[in-house]
Parts: sequence; C-alpha cells; structure tokens
Amino acid sequence: MNGRPIEIHPDLQAASRRAAELFVEIARQSIKRDERFDLALSGGSTPRLLYTLLGSEFSSEIDWNRTHLFWADERCVPPDDEESNYRMVHETLLARAPIPISNVHRMRGEEDPNRAAAEYEALLRAHFRGLPRFSLILLGMGADGHTASLFPYSPALDERERLTIATYVEKLKAMRLTLTLRSINNAAHVIFLVAGAEKAPALRAVFDEKTDARSIPAKLVAPTDGDLLWVVDRAAASLLAE
Ligand code: 6PG
Repeated sequence: MNGRPIEIHPDLQAASRRAAELFVEIARQSIKRDERFDLALSGGSTPRLLYTLLGSEFSSEIDWNRTHLFWADERCVPPDDEESNYRMVHETLLARAPIPISNVHRMRGEEDPNRAAAEYEALLRAHFRGLPRFSLILLGMGADGHTASLFPYSPALDERERLTIATYVEKLKAMRLTLTLRSINNAAHVIFLVAGAEKAPALRAVFDEKTDARSIPAKLVAPTDGDLLWVVDRAAASLLAE
C-alpha cells in the first residue's frame, strides 16, 4: 500500500504479540550479523504491552547481553517522573529483563535540554562510530501524526545535521528530546506500532499520497537503506482504503 508495508491485526494484543515476534527475529539476525543489537524505544502508552511481553514471555529468546538500549525520544523530566519514557520502559521491561545496566543508554531528561541533546549525540557517535545505524527503532504515532518528538510543522523536521535535538513543542508548551529524521531514517529496521480508533485519521493521512508530509511527521519516516513496517490494529486501520 503506497510503498509502506502494513499488517492489520484484530486488536492491540495481537499487534503487540506480532511486534514481539518481529523484535525477536530482528534481534537474532542483528546479533548473528553484527554481534550486537542496537535498539531504540519510544514512550507513550501503546507499547506498554509489547515491552511487558518482551520482558516476560519473550525474554528468554533475546540475548540481552548483546542488546544496547536507546530512546527515540524523552520528555524533559527526571527519570522517576510519571511522564518519563525511561520510567515507562523501566517499569515494563527493565525491571524484568536481564539487560546489563551498562547497555542502557537513556536520554537525560532532568538536564538542560540542549546539553542533554548534545551529550546524547556524542554518546551515539561514540557507540556507532559515526552516524547511528540502529538495528531496530520502535516508533508510535500520536493522533496528530507526530512520531518520536517530531511534531507537525516543527522546525525539527528540517534538521539535517544533528542526530539528537532538544525541540520546543508548542502544543505541549514543553521541551522534548528526540532523535532526528537523520538518525531514524538510517536504521536497518523501523516498526511502527499503532492502535486505537483515535489514530485512524492520522493513519489514513500517512497512507494518502496527497497529504503534506510536514503535517503528519510519521510520513517522513522512510529508511534509506532499511525496512519499514506498520503493525496496526483494526481500529486504527478503519479509515484506510481497501
Ligand atoms: C512519546 C512518544 C511518542 C508516542 C506517541 C504515541 O514520548 O510520547 O515517544 O512519539 O509514540 O505519542 O503515544 P501513545 O502510544 O500514548 O498514543
């Protein structure tokens, strides 16, 4: 469909299980090829079940010692704040999975945002020895079409040099830290997990060639040398053309 592969599952539970299976497969392939699995996760509520599955039922299928965990974006709050994406991943996944703490690379939401973004960029450059090539980035999409913390019409969408930036989000009246499209689109695999009827109009816009991509930033995610897959539930897909 419009060059963007999509799988439609009955509900969030089925979509999450499928995403967990894909995760395991991509982790295996990456470790076989590169001896490591470099992963970036998103926040929000949709992936809670997926992360819980990865930390429990699927955990023994993943070589956590060779997994390096990064974040696609973070809110500018301390790591124990209710809003923190680190906290969400900790509660659902890190508290269960035996991933070495030295393999967990969080964005420091409690610091000055510009400094935190620059530090994360330096960390990425050191880990990847240059431009990051994540094995897998798991993304979500807001009802307004934002992904990571790349919001509609934000100047952040035009960033071509930086790997990570601090960006002011007008509708939230808050700063966020986010990977840029430069980092995201260099990944080997990108999977979107999207569920719920409130996401249906944005999902239709992503798959509608005529929509201005700047109004739906998720549409700007197109790995240059990697695979993209949308894993969605039926409710989110309800407005897609047959
Ligand atoms: C964040 C995210 C963000 C998220 C979407 C969807 O920090 O908020 O990384 O991009 O994926 O907002 O969030 P929901 O799953 O809660 O709808």
